[in-house]
Parts: sequence; C-alpha cells; structure tokens
Amino acid sequence: MYNIAVLMGDGVASEILDSAVCVLDKVSSVYDLKFNYNYAPIGGRAYDETGTPLPDKTIEACLKSDAVLLGAVGDWKYDTLPPELRPERALLGIRKRLNLFANLRPVKVFDELLYSSPLKSEIAQDVDVMIVRELTGDVYFGEPKGIIKKTTLDNREIKVGFNNMIYDEDEIRRIAHVAFKSAKMRKKRVCCVDKANVLDVSRLFREVTTEVSKEYGDVELSYMYVDNCAMQLILNPRQFDVILTGNIFGDILSDEASTICGSLGMLPSASMSDGKTPFMYEPIHGSAPDIAGKNVVNPIATILSAAMMLEYSFNQKSAADSIYRAVRDVLKDGFRTRDICLKENKLCTTTKMTELIAEKIK
Ligand code: IPM
Ligand code: MG
Repeated sequence: MYNIAVLMGDGVASEILDSAVCVLDKVSSVYDLKFNYNYAPIGGRAYDETGTPLPDKTIEACLKSDAVLLGAVGDWKYDTLPPELRPERALLGIRKRLNLFANLRPVKVFDELLYSSPLKSEIAQDVDVMIVRELTGDVYFGEPKGIIKKTTLDNREIKVGFNNMIYDEDEIRRIAHVAFKSAKMRKKRVCCVDKANVLDVSRLFREVTTEVSKEYGDVELSYMYVDNCAMQLILNPRQFDVILTGNIFGDILSDEASTICGSLGMLPSASMSDGKTPFMYEPIHGSAPDIAGKNVVNPIATILSAAMMLEYSFNQKSAADSIYRAVRDVLKDGFRTRDICLKENKLCTTTKMTELIAEKIK
C-alpha cells in the first residue's frame, strides 16, 4: 500500500490531479498495487479555506506519505496579497520543508508531436535532455532580500529591491552528485550551466562541480554560460544529455526546453530529497487560471509526473513504463488536447484524453 498526499492547488489543479488519479487507479488494478490518496489543499485554495497558503495540516499530510503529487498553484486573484500569503510562497515552502533540493525535469520529445514543436522537426527529433535544477537555494531563498528605501545623493527617497544569489559548497555538491548519478544511467554527459563569466556564485558552482566530477570518471563534464545555453537549446538541443544548473536558471531553461516538446503541458517533474522526506511530483506548468474548469487542459504533464512517482518513489518501473507507453499510443492514435492539436488531429477534452490513456494501460 502506497500513501500518496495529493496537494490540490489552483486553476486547473483539480482537473489535472483527477486525471493522474484516474490513470493511477487503472495502474493499481492492472499491476495489483494499492494507492491510498490523502487530499490536502495548498496555494490559493488553502488560503481561502484556512487563511494560509501552506497549512500545517498539509505539511503533516506530506510527511506521513510515501510520495506527494502536486497540482499547480497561483491565480491572479491573489496578486494583491502580501508576498507571504501568495500561493507561490506555499510551493517554495513545501519544497523547502520537504528538503526537495533536486528537481529532475526530463525533456523528451514524442515522435508523434514533432510537428507540434515550433522547432523544425529535424532539430526537435530525438531530443532527450534531463534538466537537473537545484530547488532549495539561489535567489529563490537567499537572504538578505526585500524592498527598502534609500536616499539618493540629490536627496530623493527611492525604493531598492534586492535578492541574494547564494550557494554554499554543500548545496552545490549534493546537486552535482544527483546530476552525475543521473548521467551515469544515461549518455554519461553533464553540462554545468551558469554565469561564471560574471557571477562569483557561479564560479563556485563550477569549481565544486568540477571537484565532484572526479568521482565520476566515466562521465564527461562540460560548461556553458546560461545565455549561450538558452540559444543552444533551440539551435541544437540534441547536444545535451544532463544539464546541471541552479534554481533560477533551471526555472527559465526548463520552460524554454518544454516548447521543444510541443507544449508546456507535456513536461513532468520529480523533486527529490536526501531520502528522509517523501519526494514530490508535479507538472512543470502553472495553474493556467484562464483555462480552468473548461475541460481543455493537457493532463499529460501530470500523468507523466505520476509515472515518475511510480519509478522513483515506489520502484515500479514497469508500471511507470506502461504509462509512458499509453501516452505515446494515444498520441499515435492522433488524439490531442487543444495545446498540441493540429488540423489533422482528433481534438479531445481533458477527460477524454485521460480515459484514452487509462484504457491503454496494460
Ligand atoms: C516552476 C514554477 C515555480 C518556480 C513558481 C510557480 C514559483 O515556475 O515550478 O517552475 O519558479 O519554481
Ligand atoms: Mg517555472
């Protein structure tokens, strides 16, 4: 029996989580696995229900579980709240609380979606990149931070905003190990992406990564500046195997990389700790309040996140593979949600896409 905390966020969260649960239920019957879902609110939904975006009860539900599945957070209607009450703060909070320092974002293009990619298909074909994004440090959490007032030389009072891009050696070392271990199981190449030509923190990131690489003799390490990487991901994404990078660069590059796959709605992610706390799985996309409740959101990113959960948290590789295969087969049959639908495809709703995928699980 696996206990899964299902963190219900905002916007399309309930639709995509229903989809993932529906597919997991099918997996459960085919593979004789038992899943017990424990629902808890997070983000704007939790704020509305309890006055705080990350209630203690939600954290407890996660800590009691074997894994956490999260539907996105955020809605414009919370934009005027003070920063500590905003939905995004809950997401950062739960990542920190569960010590989820390693975020794995696989960018793999389904052949069936090559024509939905804005890149030429000969560039997008066979792309298979693993972005290893550090998730609990960097400007996201660095202190000091804030917006303060200062007086200028000509005696005007103006505001200054600042955040601190900061990593210590231990934080860099542990994420570098994750990247090298991941590369060992793949094509054995790690590209460390940073801004070492300008930032001191990046120079340290490189230095420590280089040191860690000595423990992985069979993995080749290269370096790239983040601006160049943004360009290379579009020019020649196949050159990458594992991209190792910090929190903010990883955030930006993974959204960019998702377009190679045809849609932001296709990319899953796994966030991992040192093993003492449960791992968390979530689509890389946001809560998309503009399309919420319309039964049009692409559920595949969340369904694939559930597959990653089966693989990484429950060690059920063949069950996970059955989900990957089911998704591919449904795409092969020509069914598409709106975001990836071309003229020649069969447009379907979120629920229809989910049913089709669940049916194909064997
Ligand atoms: C992501 C998201 C989050 C992040 C936001 C919603 C706080 O963009 O998971 O990539 O910046 O990490
Ligand atoms: Mg992001």
